[in-house]
Amino acid sequence: MNQVLERAPVVLTDLRPTAADITGEVLAGLAATPKTLPSKYFYDARGSALFEQITQQPEYYLTRVETRLLDARMADIAAEVGAQAHVVEYGSGSGLKTERLLRGLQDPVAYTPIEISRATLLAMAGRLALRFPRVQMLPVCADFTQPVALPAPDRRAHGVVVFFPGSTLGNFDEDEAIALLSAMRETMGADGRALIGIDLDKDSDVIEAAYNDVAGVTAAFTLNLLVRLNREIGSDFDVGAFRHHAVYVRERGRIETSLVSQRAQDVHVAGRVFHFAAGEAMLVEYSHKYTDTGFAALAAAAGLQVVTGWNDERDWLGLRLLEPVPPHDPTPRRR
Ligand code: AVI
Repeated sequence: MNQVLERAPVVLTDLRPTAADITGEVLAGLAATPKTLPSKYFYDARGSALFEQITQQPEYYLTRVETRLLDARMADIAAEVGAQAHVVEYGSGSGLKTERLLRGLQDPVAYTPIEISRATLLAMAGRLALRFPRVQMLPVCADFTQPVALPAPDRRAHGVVVFFPGSTLGNFDEDEAIALLSAMRETMGADGRALIGIDLDKDSDVIEAAYNDVAGVTAAFTLNLLVRLNREIGSDFDVGAFRHHAVYVRERGRIETSLVSQRAQDVHVAGRVFHFAAGEAMLVEYSHKYTDTGFAALAAAAGLQVVTGWNDERDWLGLRLLEPVPPHDPTPRRR
């Protein structure tokens, strides 16, 4: 007889951006100098699948190194986080790291992935619901750069831990990263913590190779942004007339990825025309690489402090546990 697995239903809160939201951001980016497009829109179903393929490329060390680091340090992480946490994940990738975390923590109560790709979100929550029947799945379809009111788990949670692996923070510029970390501080609450994966500054050849894989998967991933925009907002980017270009700019501590126009051309979006010169670069993604001081300063600007952290043996990649800076008490102490 087949055994029927008991599991709580997946309850979806859907706050995903509309085509009008996307159009507004694209128009603003194309009107800027240099032209830009928001990298968060890479992740439609195909983009998410291509990103999974990137993580398997030999040059893309980030996922492998971080996964090994999580395994190596899980006991310490679980001890720091404590029992019965509500795990909140910003973005949801293949779920391999999430599974390790949910398995490694002591009796986690609920899991809330927050993600704008609805298909990825539901697939992920559904799969994890089968593997972790005691963990309540409470996915939220939303842009995690804004504070999110978390759904309340049925079982009482002893604190929230926001899991933000993969150095996705690095995809935001400094102001956006501070705004995102501030929003995260609000989402997690005064007693919450965040476990963040950061790619560390290192040899530029290693970094550049990761964003220019020989198989061309990263290039396909970048160009898929144009395919998505054409489909969802009716733009007419000629995908074959742009080329992927990614360089490490050490002074700014980041990979800058552009789509370079291969010829002079006009692109139409929502009734407006944008001219591209031959060779003109449109910036589509940053991937920041951090130093310890740089990251601590970024966290501090968002009212967060680093409690502790772990690096892999080559110091290529780090995990940092953050908590809100306690509010300053202005009342003078009685002696
Ligand atoms: C998701 N994010 C951390 C990736 C990165 O490394 O910046 C996205 C990516 N872009 C190109 N390759 C991978």
